[in-house]
Amino acid sequence: MSKKPIKNLEQFKILGIETSCDETAAAVVTRLEDGSSVIHSDMVYSQIDEHSQFGGVVPELAARAHVEKLDGLIAQALEKADCTLDDIDAFAATSGPGLIGGLMVGLMSAKALAMVKHKPLYAINHLEGHALTARLTDQLEFPYLLLLVSGGHTQLILVEGVDNYQRWGTTIDDALGEAFDKTAKLLSLPYPGGPAVEKAALQGDENRFDLPVPMRGHKSLDFSFSGLKTAVRQAATNIQPLAEQDVSDICAGFQKSVTATLRDRISRALKRYSELDNLPAEPALVVAGGVAANKQIQALLKSLCDEYEVKFVAPPHHLCTDNAAMIAWAALERMAHGFEADALDVAPRSRWPLDEGAASKVGSGKRGAKA
Ligand code: KG4
Ligand code: ZN
Repeated sequence: MSKKPIKNLEQFKILGIETSCDETAAAVVTRLEDGSSVIHSDMVYSQIDEHSQFGGVVPELAARAHVEKLDGLIAQALEKADCTLDDIDAFAATSGPGLIGGLMVGLMSAKALAMVKHKPLYAINHLEGHALTARLTDQLEFPYLLLLVSGGHTQLILVEGVDNYQRWGTTIDDALGEAFDKTAKLLSLPYPGGPAVEKAALQGDENRFDLPVPMRGHKSLDFSFSGLKTAVRQAATNIQPLAEQDVSDICAGFQKSVTATLRDRISRALKRYSELDNLPAEPALVVAGGVAANKQIQALLKSLCDEYEVKFVAPPHHLCTDNAAMIAWAALERMAHGFEADALDVAPRSRWPLDEGAASKVGSGKRGAKA
């Protein structure tokens, strides 16, 4: 990729747009010379109500909702930032991975604005947005380790620099958030499943069901959750009809297995990370994605980081889940590191791994729906 230094970045205001899944979002962000940021506005419309009755995201409904909401959100983002389109120096939109209908809505809008205003366009990889958020919030130094756990992705990524990512591990089947959502659905709990499973688990006995711990001891850093989902289904089927306590016990057992698999995978990754010879002064593990909200998982990650003497960074929830500030920020980081803007004919990509050189894994990112 060609590089060209950009001057006066400090004054730059970028409008970011995010429409890759079920959040419609627009934000205005500036990056200061010392690497810190100003988030002038950060608007998000969550489509959960549109999708909850279906127990998951319906792509066609998502695309329609983006069309309906995006213009209004951009207007709100500009108003909150106290500026107009004329004050925007560049436009950035998620161009993959994700649901293609939604990606088209956001990217086409950004293209139209860039064309009309004669300003640069940045077509951003949604995963790069998540990967660089820790620099927006905490100005972390490279390289740091990122655990991305959301509805569509479960990845361990070594973030070595802007546009420089090594995927150390990924799920070979379901994403972790998807496993929470499917478990909730099996137990007739509401969507999204993560918060519902976490809440039910609080009242449960985590030892009543002996559920498997996928990938424990496996040499790779990959994840797998479909076997656990099947075990949950079997446990639930065996005791129909399910009483409230049964549901709580299954949820507690599910979370216990998830925590055990994460403990195994993440400690292996932290060991490998700690042994790198180019560690920064303050080595760090960052967690991103909706599942990062889970208290038991957060406590586990914190204790593992203490054990390996690595800083634990969990950005505020609204910047951990899908948002447009991270998309604007990724564009600003690209500018600051001399990457050129994208051409106006850039196409959205439902699949777009961060490390394009690496071999793809069966199932990883297959939905491309949520990251
Ligand atoms: O990053 P995110 O908000 O959206 C996308 O994936 O696009 O992540 C949503 C996922 C859902 O699968 C949801 O069930 C899960 O994050 N989630 C949780 C919790 N809160 C949300 N999973 C476990 N525990 C939670 N407290
Ligand atoms: Zn995401």
